[in-house]
Amino acid sequence: MKAIFINGSPRKNWNTAQLLDSAMQGAADAGFEVERVNLFDYEFTGCKSCFACKIKNSKTNGVCAIRDSIRPVIEKCQEADVIVIGSPVYFGYPTGSVRSLVERLLFPLDTYLFDEQGNRMKVPHKTVQTALIYTMNCPEELSHKVGYDTLLGFTGTEMGRLYGYNEILCSYETLQFKDYSRYDMNLFSEEQRKERHETQFPVDLQNAYDLGKRLAQKAVEANA
Ligand SMILES: Cc1cc2nc3c(=O)[nH]c(=O)nc-3n(C[C@H](O)[C@H](O)[C@H](O)COP(=O)(O)O)c2cc1C
Repeated sequence: MKAIFINGSPRKNWNTAQLLDSAMQGAADAGFEVERVNLFDYEFTGCKSCFACKIKNSKTNGVCAIRDSIRPVIEKCQEADVIVIGSPVYFGYPTGSVRSLVERLLFPLDTYLFDEQGNRMKVPHKTVQTALIYTMNCPEELSHKVGYDTLLGFTGTEMGRLYGYNEILCSYETLQFKDYSRYDMNLFSEEQRKERHETQFPVDLQNAYDLGKRLAQKAVEANA
């Protein structure tokens, strides 16, 4: 079985990437074929409103019709049993690249149809265990106060609706720079961030590992 881990940070080895790698290890230890993709290696846009996926008798079958550089990643997601997308929080939202990918992944799976019972229909697709991993400067308490649960949760809700399952893991007050003294900045304490990186980030990495393993195990159970 396959699991794909998508890094939506432009930084390939920082907080988001490290958490994804940890989740990936968890899935690998559960026997999955795993792969990490760096979204910033691809030049692509979000949905272009072509509606090829909504036209009557559409042949797109849940896959975005646009044939650009991100298409192979979308096809890999179509085959995957586990999809984990990691994103830094940029101005209260996932990064633009993650937003673009999510549009391209989710819109073709969605429909504008109600079934006879009045339930919103979706394009038939196997259940995929999905998760979002968010990293941010914001402290946890403040993130709840300023509405990040809603802002960041909506993507998770939609992934859960269309793929069948989603959970969200957040890593707060991440280390942003190796050397804070090089930057114009007095908003954060370098000492506090380094201390947190030493004490809390390893816990976050473990949580990400457990997440990867748990999703893989759920995928096996779902297919049994
Ligand atoms: C353009 C930009 C916007 C950001 N906006 C926010 C924000 O709104 N809230 C927040 O908590 N952190 C914000 N951050 C901080 C990042 O989310 C945080 O440093 C994250 O852990 C970076 O992930 P990375 O280390 O994987 O690149 C922002 C960073 C950048 C570069």
